[in-house]
Amino acid sequence: MFAYLQKCEPPSNDKRWKIIAATMRKLGNERQALIEALHSYQQAFGYLDKPGLTYIAASLKIPLSQVYGAATFYNHFTMKPQGEHACVVCTGTACYIKGAADLLKSIFNAEGVKPGETTPDGRLSILTARCFGACGLAPVVVVDGDVVGRITTDVLEQRLRKVLGHAG
Ligand code: FES
Repeated sequence: MFAYLQKCEPPSNDKRWKIIAATMRKLGNERQALIEALHSYQQAFGYLDKPGLTYIAASLKIPLSQVYGAATFYNHFTMKPQGEHACVVCTGTACYIKGAADLLKSIFNAEGVKPGETTPDGRLSILTARCFGACGLAPVVVVDGDVVGRITTDVLEQRLRKVLGHAG
């Protein structure tokens, strides 16, 4: 009850929440900032999930059900990926210039999945985001919530093998 009256604390210390908070503040922390806030959230994280939506609801003082309604109504928004693990590749300008497309290609070669897809065994979902706000570290990938900057295809492959528990 009154979920939207909860404290407006971001779900974690992740710096990306500052980008979303700034977007909401710029629009007066009011209901009309909702779609913009969801865009900014998706761009920064690659997908939306319950803790984040709860934070946005509290910040904009609107019921969580309405925030969910908007998040699920528009095809543009993606809710938390179904895979056990999530790898979000930033495809913003800085990361793109530094090789984001190669990272996506190497993931496809190794795991057979493209952005927006989950491996058939449900272990890994691949997503893209537009900017994590860490352009100085480009190219940037977030694996299970860990931001990894200046990543190479080799390091990314190793990292994915590790989270997926593949030998080698
Ligand atoms: S463009 Fe990738 S972190 Fe900004």
